[in-house]
Amino acid sequence: MNKKKIKVFSAIQPSGSLTIGNYISVLRHWKKMQKKYQCIFCIADLHSLTSLHKEDNFLRKKSILDTLAIYLACGVNPKKSIIFVQSSVHEHSSLNWILNCHTYYNELIRMTQFKNKIFHVTEKINTGLFNYPTLMAADILLYQTDKVHVGRDQKQHIELTRNIATRFNSRYGKIFKIPELLIYNLGSKIMSLMDPRKKMSKSDLNKKNVIFLLENSKEILKKIKCSITDSDVPPKISFDSIYKPGISNLLEILSALVGKSIHELEQHFIKKSYSDLKKEVYHSVDMHISKIQKKFFIYRKDKDFLKKIFLQGTNKASKIAKKNLKKVYKSLGLF
Ligand code: TYM
Repeated sequence: MNKKKIKVFSAIQPSGSLTIGNYISVLRHWKKMQKKYQCIFCIADLHSLTSLHKEDNFLRKKSILDTLAIYLACGVNPKKSIIFVQSSVHEHSSLNWILNCHTYYNELIRMTQFKNKIFHVTEKINTGLFNYPTLMAADILLYQTDKVHVGRDQKQHIELTRNIATRFNSRYGKIFKIPELLIYNLGSKIMSLMDPRKKMSKSDLNKKNVIFLLENSKEILKKIKCSITDSDVPPKISFDSIYKPGISNLLEILSALVGKSIHELEQHFIKKSYSDLKKEVYHSVDMHISKIQKKFFIYRKDKDFLKKIFLQGTNKASKIAKKNLKKVYKSLGLF
């Protein structure tokens, strides 16, 4: 198949500020990906409603525009790719309902992300959080996606999407393309700085765990300096995610950002200290983040330009979504 015809879908939730984890596993690849594939980049604002706090509503529009400006600052080009906000293409919600009716309770209850979330959430759990993976499936299947680009934490949701699509097709004929998973292994799960056994997450209450893309240099330095390593004597800078999760995480961040293999870095750091490693991690993170921020602030100032991009993206996405939803309606005997 002509590479350009291969459709890649990816999305990020605009809940708060994006992190170095989002950047390393997905965002940093998107510029290059546009040369190879037909890309659809979504801002998944409906997903962000699952952790709804009243005060978030005032920030939501800002977060959506920030996210778009970050996409652009990372090299996403609206002339090459479709960029749109999920809530402005209503077909996502319609297909979501239909897919809910083709997803089993037992499948959703098995989702690791849901199980982790309900374990930590103190307030009442809304059913949106439970149904979240079927909305993801709707996002993906609505565009007859060939490849879904995500970090490792989303792998299970993509497997579920494939199962739902296969089930739907076996009942009603070939309606959906079965999407493949696209994960770039290196950096596909960046861990939190103070607790490197859990994923770095933008919603983490302890901000010391997270490096945000819009954070200032001083703050980043402080966080990296405080990141957890280990107490090996003499210090040993080697990759071992079980026994040395903190060092492994820092090595992985560095490897992804400087383009050197983990093995090369291990050689480079022989007889060096943990603070040497942290210094190099800081410099590479700071270099990437300051480049992004420079462009971000230019794009972010021009709200009209950002809104125009959304409008154009929504038109393009809607056309595809309408056509595919029609096909689904027809298969179900709906008008
Ligand atoms: P979200 O917003 O949590 O994360 C966006 C993308 O970044 C990846 N990611 C990470 N990768 C490595 N290390 C980390 N610490 C880290 N944190 C996040 C995620 O795997 C994801 O690829 N539900 C999705 C958004 C979404 C979506 C979709 C994605 C909605 N619909 C359809 C793909 C296809 C989410 O909340 O991602």
